[in-house]
Order: sequence, then C-alpha cells, then structure tokens
Amino acid sequence: MYNFTYDIGTKVHFGKGQIEKLPEAVKEYGNKVLLVYGHGSIRKNGLYDTITKGFRENGIEWVELSGVDPNPRHTSVDEGAKLCRENGVDVIVAVGGGSTIDCSKVISCATFYDGPSWDLLIKKAKPEKFLPVMTVLTLAATGSEMDCGAVISNMETNDKLFLAAPEMRPKVSILDPTYTFSVNKYQTASGTADIMSHVLETYFSPEKDFYMLDRFCEGLLKTCIHYGTIALEQPENYEARANLMWASSWGINDMIGYGKRGPWTVHPMEHELSAFFDITHGVGLAILTPAWMEYVLSDNTVDKFAEYGVNVFGIDAGLEKYEIARAAIRKTREVFRSWGIPETLREVGITEDKLEIMAQKAAKSLGGDTVYVPLNAGDVLKIYKACF
Ligand code: NZQ
Ligand code: ZN
Repeated sequence: MYNFTYDIGTKVHFGKGQIEKLPEAVKEYGNKVLLVYGHGSIRKNGLYDTITKGFRENGIEWVELSGVDPNPRHTSVDEGAKLCRENGVDVIVAVGGGSTIDCSKVISCATFYDGPSWDLLIKKAKPEKFLPVMTVLTLAATGSEMDCGAVISNMETNDKLFLAAPEMRPKVSILDPTYTFSVNKYQTASGTADIMSHVLETYFSPEKDFYMLDRFCEGLLKTCIHYGTIALEQPENYEARANLMWASSWGINDMIGYGKRGPWTVHPMEHELSAFFDITHGVGLAILTPAWMEYVLSDNTVDKFAEYGVNVFGIDAGLEKYEIARAAIRKTREVFRSWGIPETLREVGITEDKLEIMAQKAAKSLGGDTVYVPLNAGDVLKIYKACF
C-alpha cells in the first residue's frame, strides 16, 4: 500500500429535494452563475425550472451554455470559457451527466487561459486558475460529480483526452436519485457498466495488500449488478437509483484507488473508440471488458479472477481456479448481455479499417509497465479483434 493523503473536497447533498441547498451553496462563492447542461433532458424533467426558480428567488444571476454533447467537445469548452469571461461568472453549475460536468470542469480553468482550451488537454499549457464548479447529477455513471478529472473530445483530430487537477473537483454536488428516474434503459445500462469498469480497473491491480478495499470493491460491483438490473425493470425504483448514484461516486472518488498505483487499461482502449466513432462510453467498456479479461487471464492473474468469481458471483470456491476465473468472465459478459448492451464493436458502428490506428494510440496512453498486465499495440489490436 503506497502512501497517500485523502482529502475529498466535495460536499455532497444526497437525497430527495436536496436541490433546495443549491442557491445557498452558490452564494458562498458569488452570485453570477454559468449554468451548463446538455440537450434538454433537464428541461423535460422540470429540473431546469426548479433550479432557475431557486436562482431567481435568491438574487442569483445566470448565463447559460446548453447543447453539451455526450463525449463533450473542446468547442463547447471554448464557448463556456468565453461566456464566463464576458459575464464575470463566479461559479459554474453543471446539471447533467458526466459530459456536462466534464465540460464544466475544463471551462473552469479555460476561463483563465488566453488561448484555445484544447491547449490544456494536449498539455501545451498548464491550468493555473479555476472557477468553482458545482454539480447537479442526473445520470449515475462516471463519478465526475466527485472526482477531479475530465475527458474532452476533439473529433477533428480523433482525440479524446483527459485533464485532471485537484481544483477541478466539484465543491458541491447535489445527488437526488429521483433525477435519474428519466434515464432511459440504454444509458442506465451503459452508466452502470461504467461504474463497474471504474471499480474493476482498480480491483485488478498489481498490489496485493488491499484486503479492506478489495472487499469494498466487491460490494460496489454487487451493488451495480443487483440494482442495475432492478433499475432497468423499474426506472422509478428509488432504492435502486439511490444505490447506483452513490456507487457512481464511490467508484471513482479516490477512496478505492488511493494507495494503489492505478493506471487503467480498458478505459484508454475505450477512449479511442469514442474518439473515432463517438460511441457511448459505458457501452464501449462493456464490450471490451470481458475480452480484456479473457486476454489477460494467465497464471499471474488467475488467483485474482478466481477471487472475483467467488466473492462477486458466489461461484463455488472449491472448483479449480481456472474454472472459477472463466465462469466469472462468462458471468460478467452475461450481466451486460442481460442489460441489452451490444456485444460487438461492429454493432456500435466501428469499422475494421480503424482498429490498427486506435490500437496504436491506445497503447501510447496505457501507462507502461505499471498497469495490471502491460499491453502493447499488438495486444490491444487482438482485444479489439476479439470484440468484432
Ligand atoms: O444531453 P441531455 O439531454 O442531458 O441527455 C443526456 C445524454 O444524451 C442523457 N441524460 C442525462 N441525464 C438524463 C438523461 N436523459 C434523461 N434523463 C436524465 N436524467 O444521457 C445522455 C448521456 O449523457 P452523458 O453525460 O454523456 O453520460 P455519462 O454520464 O455517461 O458521461 C459520459 C462522458 O463522461 C466521460 C466519458 O468518457 C464520456 O465523455 N467520463 C468521465 C469521467 C470522469 N470525469 O472522471 C470518467 C469516465 O470514465 C468517463 O471517461
Ligand atoms: Zn468510465
């Protein structure tokens, strides 16, 4: 276990009606807001009206950036930063899923950078100053509501890049599970697969002395499998949506990750799929994850896969360990299948001609020798091909 300092600076207001705390939270930082949202789900479910009414009643002024795309674009970040500069914005309030939140996080530092925001993503410039970000989460998935990272896409260059800074971690997040009642089946399944992937990326790590955190990870995975299935059948089941929402945050808020070395494997492979084909992040992960598991199963990893099989799926611990490991991978695939997630890259519109370039780019961001099982471009290509 490596040394770490645990300091999560996000204040979370969890539960029904917690939106009433938003105006007060905003006013701690000022009274001019940039309200950021996507393509209108928050207008359909009434959240937009609730939030703006709260602002009006509390003398909070706001300007808006709407139309943030899933896989948010650097052009939206530029637009938001311009709005912040021109209007003297004090606080950014992101209302939506990971895309809206990520876009807002990068706006928070792009506002103070005198150039295109993409420079920050390609590390040509370093973010130095930040506006505070608050979130109202409407989709349980990325955990962006409680972490300090953001992923932004540039579809002209087919790049989807990550930026992280402690100052980008939201100051306040409102987590009201009822806001996720309107999330459709596809996004519910995809979001839950994303939470599982965050946990799996951390669970399958080279470090072996994490008994407490590994049990915590298994609890999160069981929560996703159990309540993901219920939320798909009963979208307005509060218990299911609440468990998924809180699992989303804990999957990536550093509690399970600090102390491990941590470079991830499946996410870099997926980000190339999204960068080239603009696919839904969690769906890409669900397609790749079982194939990755099969590819890295070996004498070095079999014990961990067997542990996963016994503790998450309840497979008989008395069976031979490869038998348990293979059954665990099969069950992982079955969960995603039962949620209606496509099983092949072909089904989500990916074409074979781009596999090689995507594999090369993924290999470059794979974290070298410190990942669970190091992979080169050839390995990634084999995993992509296994998903066709
Ligand atoms: O745009 P609107 O109209 O809001 O619709 C969205 C969008 O179409 C819809 N939606 C959200 N809440 C809803 C709803 N529809 C009905 N009712 C609601 N309550 O869902 C669609 C997808 O939204 P999006 O924000 O794109 O989904 P998600 O939360 O899965 O975010 C995905 C993005 O986050 C990145 C992904 O790569 C992707 O770009 N990630 C961010 C991470 C982070 N910051 O730490 C980590 C993750 O691994 C991930 O990479
Ligand atoms: Zn993810």
